[in-house]
Amino acid sequence: MGNKLVGYGSYLPTRVMTNADFERLMDTTDQWIVERTGIRARHFADENETVADMATNAARAALKKANLTIDDIDMVIVATTTPELDFPSVAVQVTGMLGATKNIPAFDVRGACTGFIYALHCARGFFTAGIHERIMIIGAEKMSRFIDMTDRSTAVLFGDGAGALIFERSTSSYSGIIDTVVMADGKKFGMLHGSPDHKIIMNGPETYKMAVMLMPDAARYIMEHAGITQDDIDWIVPHQANIRIVQSCAARLGFPMDKILVTVDKHANTSGASGALALAYAFDNNIIKHGQLVLYPAFGSGLTWGATLIRV
Ligand code: ACO
Repeated sequence: MGNKLVGYGSYLPTRVMTNADFERLMDTTDQWIVERTGIRARHFADENETVADMATNAARAALKKANLTIDDIDMVIVATTTPELDFPSVAVQVTGMLGATKNIPAFDVRGACTGFIYALHCARGFFTAGIHERIMIIGAEKMSRFIDMTDRSTAVLFGDGAGALIFERSTSSYSGIIDTVVMADGKKFGMLHGSPDHKIIMNGPETYKMAVMLMPDAARYIMEHAGITQDDIDWIVPHQANIRIVQSCAARLGFPMDKILVTVDKHANTSGASGALALAYAFDNNIIKHGQLVLYPAFGSGLTWGATLIRV
C-alpha cells in the first residue's frame, strides 16, 4: 500500500530578523554569521503567535493547494519541540482551529531537528498498514522562545516557521513517502538539549562533527535500503542547520551542490519545520518538480537522526 503527495503549504512569521539586527543586540557581525553558518535572515514569531497558530496557517495553505478541507484528512501529525502548552498536543489544537467537524486522530512527535522525519516515518507506517486514507504532516517551531540572547553562539542560529505536507493512499509504492529511517542515541543527550528554563544548551563543534557524520550515514543507509543509487536522486534537501554542515555532507556523499537545496540563508535553523519549509519553498519557486526523487536527511538533539525518500 503506497501513498502520494497531494498538497503542501508553509507559513513564515512576518517579522524578519537580519544579521544586522543581531549586530545591534550582541557582540557579533554579519560576516561571522554568514561565514560560519550561511545564515543571513530568519523569521521570528510575535510574542502572542503560537506554534499552533503557525502550524494552522501552514496546514490551511496545504489544504488549499490540495483542494481539500480538514474533514478530508483522517490523521494529523505535528513535529514540534517548542509547543507553549504541555497539553493538549499542537496537532489537536490545529484540528480545532481548522474547524474539523469529524473526530480524527491527532498527535505530536518530538524529534527535535529530526522530528519531521519521525512524523513521516509514522505516516509511512500507517499507510503501509492500510488504516488511513489521507494524512497531514506538519513541522512547526517557535525556536525564538528558546533563544538565549546572552549566548551569541546559539542565538543567531535559529528561526521560526511551519510547513505542511498532505499525503494520500495510492496503489503505487514508488510515489510519496517511499522509505524512512530514524535513529536515536540517548547517550549523547548532553551535546545539545533544552534546559528547564527554556534555553538551548549546545556544544557547537561536537554537534557539527556528529551532524556531518550521521546525516551522510543515514543518506547512504536509505539509498541502500531502497535499492537505489546516487544517480536516481534528483535533490537532496538536508536539514537546514548551517551551510558548512550542508556542504560537508554533500562532499562526503559526493553530491554536487547544485543538487542540494539550500534555504538556511533565508530561514536559519527551524528545527522540525526545516524540511517542510524548504520543500514548500522549492515547490513554490519551481526548483523541485513533480515526479522528482528527494532524499531528506536530518540530525538533531537527542541525538536523533534519520532520512526519508520522497517522490514528490
Ligand atoms: N558572533 C561572533 N563570534 C562568535 C559567535 C557569534 N555569533 N558565536 C561564537 N563566536 C566566537 C566564539 O566565542 C569563539 O571565540 P573565541 O575563539 O574567542 O573563543 C569563536 O567564535 C569560535 O567559536 P566556535 O564555537 O569554535 O566556532 P565554530 O567555528 O565551531 O562555529 C558554530 C560555531 C557555527 C555553532 C558551529 O560549531 C556549528 O555550526 N555547530 C553546529 C551547530 C548547529 O548547527 N546546531 C543546530 C542544532 S543541531 C542541528 O540542527 C543539526
